[in-house]
This record gives sequence, C-alpha cells and structure tokens, in this order.
Amino acid sequence: MGVTSGYIIKNIGEIYNRYNIMPQLGLHMLRVAAVGSMICDNWMGPEIHKDDIVAVLLIHDLGNIVKFTNLDPYWEGIRKETIDKYGSDDHEATNKIAQEIGVEGRIYRLLEMQGNLWGYRDNVLHSKDYDLKICCYGDSRVAPYGIVSAMERMDNLIERKKGLPVEKIFVALKDVISELEKQVFSHTSIKPEYITDANAESTIKSLGSEWLKGKTTEDNKAKGKSH
Ligand SMILES: [Fe+2]
Repeated sequence: MGVTSGYIIKNIGEIYNRYNIMPQLGLHMLRVAAVGSMICDNWMGPEIHKDDIVAVLLIHDLGNIVKFTNLDPYWEGIRKETIDKYGSDDHEATNKIAQEIGVEGRIYRLLEMQGNLWGYRDNVLHSKDYDLKICCYGDSRVAPYGIVSAMERMDNLIERKKGLPVEKIFVALKDVISELEKQVFSHTSIKPEYITDANAESTIKSLGSEWLKGKTTEDNKAKGKSH
C-alpha cells in the first residue's frame, strides 16, 4: 500500500506547497494533467484508469526546478535546497520526491516511464497499457506558454536543441510522439485539436482550485527558463 491516486488528486495543492513548486511549474503540471483528463473523459477504447493518469501527470515534474536557470534569488535558493536533497538530475529528483511522498507502486512505475520516454519508447509504443501511453503523450502538448499541438511542441524543442548532439534524439522523439498520438486518438471521440487552453480551462481550474487561488497573474508569468 502507498499513497493513492485519489489522495494525490485531492491534496495536490498541499503537495505543491510542501515541495515549494514554482507557479509556472505547477501550472505546467496542471495543464498536462488536464490534457490527460480530457483524453480520459472522451475515451472509447480498452480499460484505462483516469485517476492514475491524472495523478501521475499532476506530479510528473515535481523535481524540475533543479534544471532551471536565470531564477530570481528566492527561487534560486529553493533550487539549491532541492538539489542538496534530491540531486541535480530532474527525473531522479522527481522520482525521489515521489518515493518520499510514498506513492503506490503502479503510480511510481508510470511516473518513471513517463519521465524517460526516449529510453522506454519501444515499450511504450508496443504496450497494451493505455494508461502508460496517455501519461507519456500528455507532456508533449504543453509548451511554457500553454497547450499547443504535439507537433508544434516538438518542433519548438528541436529548434531549441539545434546544432547540439541531442537534436537528433528530439527529431526521432517527434516520430515517437506522432505515433503515440495516432494510437491514443484512435480510441477517443475527440481529435487532438479539441485539446486547447480554452477547452482545458475548467479542468485546469478544478484540478488546481485550492493551489491556484493564492496565485496572481504576476506569479504565473514565466520566471526563469527550463532549458
Ligand atoms: Fe512536463
């Protein structure tokens, strides 16, 4: 037994506060979780577990502050504390925080694979587990400024990695995401284009209501950069 998806969803505001989650990072996770939630709400395929998907996506970047640059002194202090406690690798930091929270094994496994889609790409594409596929797809729909198409997001990332050795990986990852999108949306009553900021707004608000309440627009403006 461990912390369940229901607990995570209900207490996400408290979890974000406990781990000093930056406003833009919390908003990112809420947006990605809303993408997953909307897919689940329009699902017509094999059995999926909406609470697990939403919970995983709500916590999928809890340790991401470690890779930010150009933060103001307050958040830079939080970043250093986070690195001291959980290390400087963002995925490892997220996994360690999830372990500390005590999330259930199933949630931890989904989180771990979601955080390393490149490493698990063949398993994910060939898996019959649609919880896993939806978890892996969600992140590809959210840019720093909001929900976008998966291809816009991937082109954006490729552009940012231009000339670096890792550029090739992002180009290949674009094909993985494109295939994943086809697989997921072959079982939904909606098309990928239905998922927009405007259509996701109410879901984002209901997932993050408590935590979003204390946040002003000023807080939500991008501070620092993740890449
Ligand atoms: Fe993310």
